[in-house]
Amino acid sequence: METTHQIIFENSNSMADISSDSVDLVVTSPPYPMIGMWDEMFSAQNRKIHEALNNHNGSRAFELMHRELDAVWNEVRRILKKGGFVCINIGDATRTLNGNFALYPNHSRIMTHMLRTGFTALPEILWRKQTNAPNKFMGSGMLPAGAYVTLEHEFILIFRKGGKREFKKNTEKTERRRSSYFWEERNVWFSDIWTDLKGISQNLSESKIRKRSAAFPFEVPYRLINMLSVKGDTVLDPFLGIGTTTFAAMAACRNSVGYELESGFRDLIFSGADKIVPYSDERISKRIASHLDFVKERFKAKGGFKHINNNYNFPVVTQQEKDLIFNELISVIRNDKNVIETTYSDSPQDKFCIDEKDCSEMQIANQISPQKKENISTQLRLLE
Ligand SMILES: C[S@@+](CC[C@H](N)C(=O)[O-])C[C@H]1O[C@@H](n2cnc3c(N)ncnc32)[C@H](O)[C@@H]1O
Repeated sequence: METTHQIIFENSNSMADISSDSVDLVVTSPPYPMIGMWDEMFSAQNRKIHEALNNHNGSRAFELMHRELDAVWNEVRRILKKGGFVCINIGDATRTLNGNFALYPNHSRIMTHMLRTGFTALPEILWRKQTNAPNKFMGSGMLPAGAYVTLEHEFILIFRKGGKREFKKNTEKTERRRSSYFWEERNVWFSDIWTDLKGISQNLSESKIRKRSAAFPFEVPYRLINMLSVKGDTVLDPFLGIGTTTFAAMAACRNSVGYELESGFRDLIFSGADKIVPYSDERISKRIASHLDFVKERFKAKGGFKHINNNYNFPVVTQQEKDLIFNELISVIRNDKNVIETTYSDSPQDKFCIDEKDCSEMQIANQISPQKKENISTQLRLLE
């Protein structure tokens, strides 16, 4: 299997290189309106934003910044296939202008525009970005009627263009089954509040472009891509930053396109891509190791499994996980036109066993697989 990853250093308010109805999934995090680090970038796009900020007119600056984003969301609507999803990671902003402290509700402004554009809103995810910063409690401390609640969460707004995606052809159905995730991953990934994500260092000390990358953790696009697309699909990020969505698409066996205004991020994106082979292996190994831990616990608690995965011969909870397979990323080659080509193995690999103990458990499952995998009591005895 092969995928391609294209990086385009242009404004995504016009994605002329992408044909209409051609992208399966959009995963992105725009610059957050009314967060100070983006003032300059928004002002460069529309001088009136600079004036509104200078005049301390928060609501006008907020609205004008969102109009810049609206143009990108309109393009997203054009290029997305029917049945495709859009995931927008966004945080609200707080700011004091002219002595007035206020919340600028970015998530609800984006939601309103997306609904007007004709997208269907779906249940969203809130991810908790807990901080220990001493200044996280805002306002007048312990004195009533003057303190404000902390801002320690971000939203992942989820939309769909039109109705449910259909998988009609046999090849489409097969790829969908090969792209399945574990039952226990489903239980976490499809819960509305994510509390297990760790923030990442955003320090860009050597960059002349800005001090902080504003990157989201790899896990955010990696989960969303696995949840809402299948292998071989195309994922777009219209606000690519240092390339996290591209790396996640590479690891998950999807094609990708990323738009980024700052061409100065080129080296950072390509050096990140060079590291993705071992990183992707590590993430897959962790998923398998966590699954084996889950298997051991569930054997103890519930006493067995009804299904065995056809590729790895380990037990799985549901029929839908039987064809699940991880494709090992083998090579990442950059050609000179801002396109990266990646190749994958098509067969399950022994090396994804984490350590000897886990490997031997997989061997045990291997031994039972030829003798009709449904023998729960045999599994129980062997894994005790
Ligand atoms: C919040 S950052 C995205 C970070 C990204 N998720 C990552 O992990 O690196 C937003 C990015 O969008 C870029 N940007 C802002 N407006 C843009 C536009 N109209 N077209 C393309 N890129 C844009 C900014 O330069 C910035 O790098």
